[in-house]
Amino acid sequence: MSTPWRQRYAQRMQWMGSSMIRELLKLTARPEIISFAGGLPAPELFPVEEFQAATDRVLSQNGCSALQYSTTEGFMPLREFLADKMAAYGIEAGPENILITSGAQQAIDIIGKMLINPGDRILTEQPTYLGALQSWRAYQAEFVTVPIDHDGLRVDLLEEVLCSGPKFMYILPNFQNPGGVTLSLARRYELIEIADHYGIPIVEDDPYGELRYEGEHLPPLVVVDNDLMNDTGATYDSYGSFMRGNLIYLGTFSKTLAPGLRLGWMVAPKSVIERAVMAKQGMDLHSSSFVQMVAYEVVKDGFLKQHVQHIRTVYGERRDVMLAAMARHFPPSVAWTRPDGGLFLWVTLPEGVDASVLFEKAVANNVAYVPGIAFDPLNEAVNTFRLNFSNAQPDVIEEGIRRLGSVLTAELAGQHELIYAAG
Ligand SMILES: Cc1ncc(COP(=O)(O)O)c(C=O)c1O
Repeated sequence: MSTPWRQRYAQRMQWMGSSMIRELLKLTARPEIISFAGGLPAPELFPVEEFQAATDRVLSQNGCSALQYSTTEGFMPLREFLADKMAAYGIEAGPENILITSGAQQAIDIIGKMLINPGDRILTEQPTYLGALQSWRAYQAEFVTVPIDHDGLRVDLLEEVLCSGPKFMYILPNFQNPGGVTLSLARRYELIEIADHYGIPIVEDDPYGELRYEGEHLPPLVVVDNDLMNDTGATYDSYGSFMRGNLIYLGTFSKTLAPGLRLGWMVAPKSVIERAVMAKQGMDLHSSSFVQMVAYEVVKDGFLKQHVQHIRTVYGERRDVMLAAMARHFPPSVAWTRPDGGLFLWVTLPEGVDASVLFEKAVANNVAYVPGIAFDPLNEAVNTFRLNFSNAQPDVIEEGIRRLGSVLTAELAGQHELIYAAG
């Protein structure tokens, strides 16, 4: 019997279909598979004891307010903490510029709800974060893209695409997901200058900025924007301290504390935060007050800094293990990025090799990745895939890359023979 709901779904549901990629990834749940597919942090680094102690303190000292409804903007001490944290990062913002969200993912969805009309063009990097594509497709966005290289967004190709009139740009400047690349300092300045010239605002999504394993910290785009504003002698907007308003910055605790908290934040001019609050209210009224209070209790006395330092050491080591194993086991015709931080690297196979087809062979050999096409708004990145290096222990990374190396070697040898036979 067909369900009464079948004919009643809204049109937008047709843009939300379960992707081929999600179906493929279900295959990776088998325990014998070494999966480099997810974007998962290392669970053994989650500060479970700190959360246990903080939960006890919150419940014994403030149990009733922790379990009560609260304001949409978020728990004020946490917003003040984040304003200080942002200041240390170079971003001038007060608590009035910060909205606590249920993960950065919700902030992305709020942006969709707040800004995107059907048919609006959004400019993204190619490839870009899958979760943003999924969210904004539901608002019937269209995507225009600019490719990335080892220094991030190809700013030299930007102006041509900006002529198509995108509503905003969505940029991941640090250790991009999925590319693993970082936007160079020079390109950050060029990007802001071009954005200014065309009057196109930017959403800067930065979940990985603190997870740098080598090289110098680079200023976020909001800071570059501020810098250029001061150079030109422009004044702050009428809402006070935060920027002139061309950027929205997104942060999250998912990669530095734990993704299960579902805690992220949006930093924006006060006028934008007011609208975002309205958009969020219809979604969940507010992010869990209990979780916000516990997270604040964990981070308020300097724990986060030392914890992030520890994460950096562990992930930096895992990145090195993965890169060294790839150099040993991958055939020479395969190329990959060498990230200075974050959780991912990006692999490019020779032209004509389909990473989605190869995925099935990889899974048959008990190793998994995400085919790159999932991250490409234009579905062109057929011969690419993403690997995660944060989740598995070094010996498991070594073994997984060995397995993947043999799959690639067999496949590419086959390719070579085909080309040879055809030639
Ligand atoms: C670029 C990017 N933005 C946003 C998110 C969502 O993060 P959160 O767990 O805070 O919702 C992720 C998660 O992997 C991400 O990679």
